[in-house]
Amino acid sequence: MKRLGIMAALPQELGDLIAQMQAAGDVRTVTLGRREYYVGTAHGVAAVVTLARIGKVAAAATASALIHVFEADAIVFTGVAGGVHARVQVGDVVVADTLMQHDLDASPLFPRYEVPLLGRARFDADPALADALAAAARAFIAEEGAALGERFAVAAPRVHRGLVVSGDRFVASHDALFALRDALPDALAVEMEGAAIAQVCYEHGVPCAVVRTVSDSADAAAPASFSEFLAALAATYSSGILSRFLRAAA
Ligand code: ADE
Repeated sequence: MKRLGIMAALPQELGDLIAQMQAAGDVRTVTLGRREYYVGTAHGVAAVVTLARIGKVAAAATASALIHVFEADAIVFTGVAGGVHARVQVGDVVVADTLMQHDLDASPLFPRYEVPLLGRARFDADPALADALAAAARAFIAEEGAALGERFAVAAPRVHRGLVVSGDRFVASHDALFALRDALPDALAVEMEGAAIAQVCYEHGVPCAVVRTVSDSADAAAPASFSEFLAALAATYSSGILSRFLRAAA
């Protein structure tokens, strides 16, 4: 790996990563497309770190810049997600094996969910990167999981692998959640960026992976749960998982 691209949507989802890079040595900051890209070394790994902001367009544009301008040859996305599958709880971690856009529908011209003219709906994460993220998440939970329960109602967090779905919509109602479960029974979690990054990476042959901490259950309580989780725990999870992932890769 020459240079790893690390992305999140919101600052809390990057944890202390940029501060770590700045403490470790020189960091070059480049502003492009209303985003800052931090180029340096993260826990021993040559990296470019940036905040995409929220949504698929923002994520795709940022992934494209990481690849073409900053020469990232692999991309990792870290952040929070809504739990969709009944066995996925707030505080769990979901590592994507595959991703798709749940709101993409060019039917009847193309099958529902299929990216027109690309001939596929699902985009796989790189298995080695996903394995490494899952190992880092398991280590983080084993070493720091007990303390999480004291700060938030997070009991015995688990790491899941499988389908993560993305769309330009914050899912926050019983009806929307159950419509997603009915349409895509294998979906574990919902967020707003991952499948866009996976598509861009697929198109350019760049390995990518997505790790998400579950901040809410994508139901009517989701806005409050999301905000509280973001304030209380998102940075702890991201810092804990990314630091272990990067140190293992260095
Ligand atoms: N990210 C975190 N929670 C989410 C939700 N409920 N819907 C979409 N994206 C999310």
